[in-house]
Amino acid sequence: MENFSYYVPTEIYFGEGSIQQLSDAVARYGDKVLLVYGGGSIKKIGLYKKVKSLLKDVTIHELSGVEPNPRLESVVNGVNLCKENDIQVVLAVGGGSTIDCAKAICAGMYYDGNPWDFIEDSNLITEALPLISVLTLSATGSEMDATAVITNPELKLKKGFGHRTLFPKVSIMDPTYTYSVSKYQTASGTADIMSHIMETYFNDGEISQVSNQISVSLLKTCLRYGKIAYNEPENYEARANMMWTSSLAINGLTGCGVGKKWSCHAMEHVLSAYYDVTHGAGLAMLTPRWMEYILDGSTVDKFASYGRDVWGLEGTNDMAIAKIAIQKTKEFFESLDLPMTFEAIGIPEDAPVEEMAASATASKGGKIDGYRELSTQDVINIYRMC
Ligand code: NZQ
Ligand code: ZN
Repeated sequence: MENFSYYVPTEIYFGEGSIQQLSDAVARYGDKVLLVYGGGSIKKIGLYKKVKSLLKDVTIHELSGVEPNPRLESVVNGVNLCKENDIQVVLAVGGGSTIDCAKAICAGMYYDGNPWDFIEDSNLITEALPLISVLTLSATGSEMDATAVITNPELKLKKGFGHRTLFPKVSIMDPTYTYSVSKYQTASGTADIMSHIMETYFNDGEISQVSNQISVSLLKTCLRYGKIAYNEPENYEARANMMWTSSLAINGLTGCGVGKKWSCHAMEHVLSAYYDVTHGAGLAMLTPRWMEYILDGSTVDKFASYGRDVWGLEGTNDMAIAKIAIQKTKEFFESLDLPMTFEAIGIPEDAPVEEMAASATASKGGKIDGYRELSTQDVINIYRMC
């Protein structure tokens, strides 16, 4: 097992009714609040009203309309609101995009200049406002990690950045708020959670059995409850299991003692930057292709273990098991009606695939140093498989 450090300071209130903790949580950090939310889903489910009534004694300013794949412009607007109104706490109510935008706003409060600077170089972050999140979509794990991903449409770049000051101080996680999530977003969220687990599970460094087994069990949870949540949106057990899995998948737990060489996320972020692809859907399309592409004599053991442990496959022929496991992964995403080709996901036939692949590797210093190293040509080949 590799040495590791592990730090997750987020306080979690989980379960139906946990929103009742909101007033106390906010009071611990201040009484001038910036409420950040997206395109209006929180109003449709009555959550906006609930938040306002719980916080009737504090001053609330609002930033609404945060886009899926949140844009720099929203961050800048939020930072301006914080500076103009001496905001003390940022409250994000929504999915990963809203929480990510709020994180960048928290850091922007203490930065003089364009927030894109610290998104490109997180060493420029010194301090951040406290962030509280109320999660409404199980997917990114942003509710319990210190990362955010922001899109700069002018540069056609979507960039992740992180800083230890950006963990939410408190996250409120009530699975009933996810009952209204559409089938498409439920499926995409499931694929994103699975990808976060697999990005760490497929690593070629030292193996930590405990992390490995946690990953296997989280993946099996997704296969079971992702499907149920998709078919029965108001199934509490399914929504609750997916919500907690979304946090555990990316809060560092599965990465303790193992390497952290991610592969598919860098390839997906380019698709979102160019064509506003839904993040989890892009990952569902890419992941089985990436698996197929890197399957060879040096990776077959790991894929065969994946087949046996996650999919319960039996047999002695490792290569056959590995291939079936990859096929089953693809079929699982298809069973959630996720688009599995460029055409189905809305990427045109004449997309500048070479340019996009170059952008994916450029963001990683010229190559994606994943479970298997991927050159720009490898990324082109994987894109062309979609
Ligand atoms: O904007 P509203 O009206 O709220 O609607 C949203 C949005 O249209 C809707 N939605 C959210 N909760 C809902 C709901 N609709 C009905 N009922 C509810 N309860 O769902 C749509 C998508 O929301 P979004 O926040 O964009 O989805 P998600 O949580 O998947 O976030 C995606 C973003 O997170 C980034 C992705 O790249 C993408 O930009 N990621 C962040 C990570 C992190 N912070 O660690 C890691 C991930 O790998 C990922 O890159
Ligand atoms: Zn992701």
